Amino acid sequence: MPPTQTQTKTQPQTQTQTEPAATTFTAMRAATRDDYQVIAQHAGRFFEELPGRVLTHLTLLAGDTGGYAVDRLTHSLQTATRAQRDGRDDEYVVCALLHDIGDTLACSNHADLAATILEPFVSEKNHWIVKQHAIFQGYYFFHHLGLDRDMRDRFRDHEWWRDCAEFCEKYDQNSFDRDYDTLPLEAFEPIVRKVFAEPRKTIYRQEGTT
Ligand SMILES: [Fe+2]
Ligand SMILES: [Fe+2]
Repeated sequence: MPPTQTQTKTQPQTQTQTEPAATTFTAMRAATRDDYQVIAQHAGRFFEELPGRVLTHLTLLAGDTGGYAVDRLTHSLQTATRAQRDGRDDEYVVCALLHDIGDTLACSNHADLAATILEPFVSEKNHWIVKQHAIFQGYYFFHHLGLDRDMRDRFRDHEWWRDCAEFCEKYDQNSFDRDYDTLPLEAFEPIVRKVFAEPRKTIYRQEGTT
């Protein structure tokens, strides 16, 4: 919400150094380059808080089991734990941790939402694995629902078919075990902050700059 004129006149003295100023334009066509220097400061701060928001959103997966033996958060943590213990690198483990983060808001295409969140920060291969994992995971249950368990074979000739199949086989389809020694979310916080530290690609940055 834009501040009132009164606020902008009285606030500068009381603003802390950690809080950048606010703009006063009411329509973007009236904004100036200086305004967007201010907006950029806010955007930078907001971006820095992204890993925290991701971690918070993961906690929304707690509680609901969907009928499985463990809740969605435990499943996600267990998938990441298995990947980490299997020697996968931090980026892969974070992808494993987030692969079902779309469950809350994208019930019909949860893998797409997870892939979209991760896309600026991970390799094309890891992005593809996350995006397609729902179809590959179907190999383990689609036939119980009258669906084609081999739906994944539409990607048979894809260079990363085996990688996605491996993710589901080794880490995802088997992560519903209450008795597994699953790591807590806090254990993954450092690598979530590391992977989400800087996007590799974004339309909000000129190509060739960092
Ligand atoms: Fe999934
Ligand atoms: Fe999963």
